[in-house]
Amino acid sequence: MTKEEIIDFYKHSTTEELIGKAKEICSVKYDNKVFLRGLIEFSNYCDKDCLYCGIRNANANVHRYRLTEKEIIDTVKLGYDKNLKTFVLQSGEDDYFTNKKLCYIIEEIKKITNNEVALTLSCGIKTKKQYQEIKDAGCDRYLIRFETSDEKLHSYLRNGISLKRRLQALNDLKELGFEVGSGFMVGLPNETEQIRINNALLCYDLGLDMIGIGPFIPHPETPLKDSIQESIELTIRMTALLRMLLPDANIPATTAAGTLSPIGREKMLEAGANVLMPNITPTTYKKDYLLYPNKICLDETGFECIGCLSGRVGTVGKKLSFERGDSLSFLSRKDYSGNNG
Ligand code: SAM
Ligand code: SF4
Ligand code: FES
Repeated sequence: MTKEEIIDFYKHSTTEELIGKAKEICSVKYDNKVFLRGLIEFSNYCDKDCLYCGIRNANANVHRYRLTEKEIIDTVKLGYDKNLKTFVLQSGEDDYFTNKKLCYIIEEIKKITNNEVALTLSCGIKTKKQYQEIKDAGCDRYLIRFETSDEKLHSYLRNGISLKRRLQALNDLKELGFEVGSGFMVGLPNETEQIRINNALLCYDLGLDMIGIGPFIPHPETPLKDSIQESIELTIRMTALLRMLLPDANIPATTAAGTLSPIGREKMLEAGANVLMPNITPTTYKKDYLLYPNKICLDETGFECIGCLSGRVGTVGKKLSFERGDSLSFLSRKDYSGNNG
């Protein structure tokens, strides 16, 4: 199907019909495997003030924390010893973690894991030179959601930071050879169905390797506290649309979906998601990385979650995989350029 035909199909289909198509693709492309990523939320300090985010700088009620470099490296080692092959290090935009510190952490992780793991960073906007240094240190992947494709809404929600700047960062990352991830929240205030479709089309135009989406959940200590909570259904439909538009991209079933609905992640998996990200941050810190209220899995260790997830994926006919799970689009780009490094 062309992208126009896919959009047309999306508009005229029930959620069950969309899920049916997504299931076919996941079975053929991924043999119904679900790749695991160990998520480490290493700092909740942030100098930005995105209107939607619970850990925004202006929220004085957040108990701020940073993991030490050793704690970050030790947490990865723990995950590696338990067979995880991919780790995602996420934080606010926190200048304490200079590029020098980040590069040291990346190099150490690569060393202690015998270069066997794929490492993803998700720490917001940086200069191209900074991204280059991170890449040279051994970082494989970078995640930075564009949040919404609507320029006006973007500047409003990100407190003046333009969509153009976010897209510049994505372009820089692609040019540097990263496996690139982006995505958006679903159900933001003033978002229309057309904006959601444009969000999906922007993912297509960017040729993303990884697409992170999840429902927007209003946080009571942010300017968006009185926003309407949209239903999980919107996120499920978007997941299926993305799976049809980008069959080669990795798509996580996100914690926000599991927070909004007890079977939100399972529904996303049925609708085409093929990745889960157990949160392996030490449990003492987890409760302070509250982007939205009622976040799940705060008391369990990420390793307890893996046990829980293996049962959950079974309920939708899928199975967990401990492989690195590079995205198919990234692998074909590497083959095409002859670059196997
Ligand atoms: N600081 C980096 C950034 O903004 O790109 C990475 C961390 S940020 C907390 C990770 C993601 O959390 C954002 O890209 C946003 O989509 C999501 N997020 C923030 N607040 C949220 C909310 N209230 N509901 C759902 N997702 C939220
Ligand atoms: Fe900071 Fe990211 Fe939250 Fe924005 S979304 S306030 S950049 S942590
Ligand atoms: Fe964390 Fe079930 S996935 S407790």
